[in-house]
Amino acid sequence: MSRLSPAGRKALLTLHLVTSLGWLGADLVLLALGVAGLRGADPEVVYPAAGLLATWLFAPLSVLVWLVGLTSALLTPWGLLRWRWVLVKFAITTAMLGLVLLLLTPTVRRLGELGPDLATRDRLDLIIPPTVSSTLLIVMTVLSTYKPWGQLRPANPAARRPVAAGRRR
Ligand code: HEM
Repeated sequence: MSRLSPAGRKALLTLHLVTSLGWLGADLVLLALGVAGLRGADPEVVYPAAGLLATWLFAPLSVLVWLVGLTSALLTPWGLLRWRWVLVKFAITTAMLGLVLLLLTPTVRRLGELGPDLATRDRLDLIIPPTVSSTLLIVMTVLSTYKPWGQLRPANPAARRPVAAGRRR
């Protein structure tokens, strides 16, 4: 049973889509800055800009996406622990949140402080992590629309039947 009115559910889903796909957009911008840095763009422009983006947009969005995603699971009939696609998304988003806050954001800020003397190895710090995270975000978007793998815990025997692709709950 949904604990939300239809209007409330639509509003929450809209917020979930705007935040999570906005997160993907911000990630792709970080990657674009990383590519520009690797191709020789002025490091004193590129890396401080990436530091600002990571600090003021990407990291806060990571927290917001986690919170809104969790709320979307708990307040709709999907639940958090019932459907594999929801649980896998929660696990990936939780791991990404930890990595963004503890590793990516401090690393990108450090790149912004290093000035012009950046080695290629340093520059790859703004290529490899955003490539991996953007890929994961695209995978999660696909999981969300196709909703594969069925249920972990059927709510009732009738719910054991396979769910048609795209069927809304
Ligand atoms: C904490 C992590 C997350 C959880 C627990 C979660 C859970 C959910 C749930 C329960 C829904 C269905 C909402 C409804 O029917 O009203 C949903 C929809 C959706 N989610 Fe997530 N989500 C998470 C993160 C993400 C991320 C990171 C992305 C993409 C980058 C994403 C993309 C989507 C999309 C595109 C839909 C719409 C699917 C549809 O309506 O058919 N989610 N999510």
